Amino acid sequence: MASLILASNRLPIRILTDGSFERTTGGLASAIEGSGLDGKYTWVGWGGSCSEIGRSKSELKSSLRELGVEPVLLSEENISGYYDGYSNSTLWPLLHYMQDRARFKPEWIECYRSVNAQFADTIAEIASPNAHVWIHDYHLMLLPQLLREIRPDIKIGFFLHTPFPSSEIFRALPERDELLKGLLGCDLIGFHTYNYLRHFISSLIRILGVEADMDGLWQKKRHIQLGVYPIGHNSDGFQTAAKSENFVKMHSEHAKHLGAGKLILSVERLDYTKGLPQKLTAIRQFLHEHPEQRGLVHFVLVAVPSRRGVEEYDSLTAQVQCEVGAINGDYGDVGHSPVQFLHRSFQVDELAALYSLADICMVTPIVDGMNLVAKEFIDCKRASHRARPGVLILSEFAGAANEMSHALLVNPHDTAGVVKAINEALQMDEVDMWKRVHAMQNRLKLNDAGAWAKRYLSDLQKNTSCNHKGTIH
Ligand code: G6P
Repeated sequence: MASLILASNRLPIRILTDGSFERTTGGLASAIEGSGLDGKYTWVGWGGSCSEIGRSKSELKSSLRELGVEPVLLSEENISGYYDGYSNSTLWPLLHYMQDRARFKPEWIECYRSVNAQFADTIAEIASPNAHVWIHDYHLMLLPQLLREIRPDIKIGFFLHTPFPSSEIFRALPERDELLKGLLGCDLIGFHTYNYLRHFISSLIRILGVEADMDGLWQKKRHIQLGVYPIGHNSDGFQTAAKSENFVKMHSEHAKHLGAGKLILSVERLDYTKGLPQKLTAIRQFLHEHPEQRGLVHFVLVAVPSRRGVEEYDSLTAQVQCEVGAINGDYGDVGHSPVQFLHRSFQVDELAALYSLADICMVTPIVDGMNLVAKEFIDCKRASHRARPGVLILSEFAGAANEMSHALLVNPHDTAGVVKAINEALQMDEVDMWKRVHAMQNRLKLNDAGAWAKRYLSDLQKNTSCNHKGTIH
């Protein structure tokens, strides 16, 4: 039996088709790693498609249990409706204000309900009496209430890793009431910023007619606490990576290749919320206006493949590839292409080397719940990492902008403004760069990933609203 359970769509491990596993380095997994919990929890998540795995279900489950992992094995049909469909084609665009991209299909919500119910059954089975359960993200918004119905003794927390949009957007969702009621099964609901929390409160009143303030609300003698918990990056992970052999090797190889050139880096999942086409428009404009820079700048775009098979992602990939080719065709020269598009994932030590070397990091999403790249880049600007100073160009629409006012803040739709920021960053003197970097580092070190997880879990623990003897309605 488990007294602390984490639940998220993705597990901190990847199950390979032969049934073996490897650890993954996602934001949440590294946050939990840095929290000092030391494996004293069980992680419940989607374990991959059972039909693809060359091992029996029970064999797979028992070897995963030894690692503190409880997989929820889903059918192909459920994966498609719950993950590709409702989570990533309905909820994801809507939560990011992209109503025109959101698609609604009744069969998707059926799969979403069924998967959330499977998570509830799995957790109910393994949770010890009065256990604490911390649920993550938009894939599992029905889970809190479903779980409470089966196990009213459990203390339930939920954290949303995306923005919560204005109620005018959220109300477009046919299942808006059901999702809000699902979340109200919690004892504690957390968001990255005050704005997201404010929008959630407006949705409660406008959609359900339920009143709440910034601290929370009462539902039939039960207090549901609301709070703001901006997630931090995995500082320890990057500090360790910067001491690795591979870091040193990558650092010197890239430095040699750059020579006197300037590295303008961007790192993101290839997602339409990240504003890649807008960034490419700004890059094209910059190269057009500054012929003297064409041979000097290296725009390196790391775009990690994501959600392949979901229509919008496939067409965005093609669009970005085409525009990168066109820019290089227009502004490249023999031996130099100003834009390098790296469409693959990177190990943390290689990322740390790129962050450490980059003169500028462009983090310019259209909408982003937080964005940890901005924080990782600033953290890697340390003398011990052989870092060159650097400037962060940050979209004002990323949650991280609330904490990083020493970045050059831009509106990614304002091409002239982004071009101006690139120019300003290239001209900035080193003293000013370091001053800004240090100001941001001082703030970041107070709230790294581990501190974030600890703070949330301690509030969940302190929450005394849950009456374990069944007066919960
Ligand atoms: C966002 C979501 C996470 C998700 C991640 C990667 O950050 O908030 O929940 O895990 O994207 O997306 P994927 O669909 O590959 O899990």
